Amino acid sequence: MSQRKPRIFSGIQPSGEMHIGNYLGAVRNWVGLLDEFDAFYCIVDLHAITVPYDPGDLEQRVLDLAVGLMASGLDPERCTLFVQSAVPEHAELQWLLGTVTPLGELQRMTQFKDKSRHLDSVNTGLLTYPVLQAADILLYLGEHVPVGEDQRQHLELTREIARRWNARFGDYFPEPQPLILPQGRRILGLDGASKMSKSQDNTIPLLAEPEDLRALVRTAVTDPARVRKDDPGNPHVCNVFALHGHFSPSAERDDIEILCQTAGIGCVDCKNRLSDNLAGALAPVRDRARELAEQPGRVQEILAAGAARARGVARDTISEVRERMGLGSPSP
Ligand code: TYM
Repeated sequence: MSQRKPRIFSGIQPSGEMHIGNYLGAVRNWVGLLDEFDAFYCIVDLHAITVPYDPGDLEQRVLDLAVGLMASGLDPERCTLFVQSAVPEHAELQWLLGTVTPLGELQRMTQFKDKSRHLDSVNTGLLTYPVLQAADILLYLGEHVPVGEDQRQHLELTREIARRWNARFGDYFPEPQPLILPQGRRILGLDGASKMSKSQDNTIPLLAEPEDLRALVRTAVTDPARVRKDDPGNPHVCNVFALHGHFSPSAERDDIEILCQTAGIGCVDCKNRLSDNLAGALAPVRDRARELAEQPGRVQEILAAGAARARGVARDTISEVRERMGLGSPSP
């Protein structure tokens, strides 16, 4: 007899090109979990509109991200891939969960503090962002959430919200656990200092052409103490070396480690080798993305089918939540 697979949920914002930080920190992990779990993967457009954006290109960015995700190996036959705003129950559950979420918890979220620091006017969506994220996960009764390290605090709050709701209205929601891969938990950007992120403008796009990859990698910050080519370097403080760990064969990486420490290789050569290996490793993803991008109708159909399946589950959860909260059944 087949047993129900445990549910997982994760989301990604359509806020620019997919980069190797998303890929190594989350999406590669998502692909590896397809067999073991009943996976719901969501393009979270409602989250993306909490910061300034251009409404004219949001739809295209959603489509590009769907292409990037499928090209990375997310097989829509083996998971539920969909767009958040196509399932209105996300916003509905967010409201309901907001009634048990303490304001102080939202105000102390690191991401809220970081993002609002740069804005003249802070919108409420930025503050309630983690409640929507909790709604995303809990709507599908998600038990595990594969993410990068930066999402850990939001998940702690999700568990807190689930606990408070369960205490008030009866045990229903699981307390979802983060699934964080040790080797991809926090990928640094080209500056070698901060998290790779579109908002930091320090990314290596997943689908960049080889010549663009080479030009970008050339700008990467290396060991700051290594000024001249014949100075020995310290690969363990160098983000280019860290990236070799993800994209170069281990024998070559070991070689580079010694060559760097003995000044046998300069940073330019080391970067060129990384660019070649990156371009090679990502070539199949680029090729698949090119093919998919030529069939936007098919991608739309896949997303629509995903939303229909997601909505079936979401409706059941909302009915149960409404009933327990004394709101009765939704009108047909
Ligand atoms: P987002 O869109 O910023 O990132 C998507 C996923 O990529 C991971 N990630 C990274 N991992 C390691 N190093 C990096 N430099 C890096 N940059 C991004 C993120 O940890 C994430 O797993 N709030 C979420 C989206 C979201 C969500 C959810 C996630 C909305 N609802 C429900 C999980 C469950 C976000 O902004 O991710």
